[in-house]
Amino acid sequence: MKWVFILTLLIVAAAGGLMGAAVVVRFTHNMAETARIMPGERVFRMPAGVVPRGGDLVLPKEQREVAAKQPNPVRASAASIALGRERYVTFCVPCHGAEAKGGVTGLVATKFIPTPDLTNAELQKQRTDGYWHSYIVAGGAVMPSYGEALSSEEAWHIVNFLRSVARQ
Ligand code: HEC
Repeated sequence: MKWVFILTLLIVAAAGGLMGAAVVVRFTHNMAETARIMPGERVFRMPAGVVPRGGDLVLPKEQREVAAKQPNPVRASAASIALGRERYVTFCVPCHGAEAKGGVTGLVATKFIPTPDLTNAELQKQRTDGYWHSYIVAGGAVMPSYGEALSSEEAWHIVNFLRSVARQ
């Protein structure tokens, strides 16, 4: 009788120990081995059509027609034109030249593909602010996009600047 009691006690103790060990192993495993997100380890693609907080919807150049209809939300004040000029000098002068006349001056355009004359009154009339804004943020046939270097608002400032250099 005594042996049966000791054996039962041993079996219960062994089962308890086993369960305890299982809990400890699973607990430490869960803590160390589960899927975790390390900053910079992976790049997640944003779902299509998502707009980040404080950001603006950037239409791809294939949707230029839609983008061209966007009204310019930035008033063409002297401050806006000055800011646009400053950004233009930083990003656009190599190809478009300081006068925006295209292919006349500029480190790149005189040797590479000549850019169109942006001061041309006919072109100025033909293009909406939204069209040029789209050209800046989404790029053109050859022209690179500046959607990552410039905010949408800065692009509108540049459009205001370009309007200010239109030939009468
Ligand atoms: C690498 C050279 C390059 C740079 C830099 C560049 N562009 Fe252009 N841009 C071009 C070329 C080439 C064209 C002619 C059309 C095309 O190839 O897309 C053009 C066309 C344009 C047009 C005319 C679109 C039209 O048909 O009405 C505008 C407006 C314009 N660029 C504005 C800018 C602005 C603003 C910047 C600076 C943010 C800039 N570009 C920077 C090369 C450049």
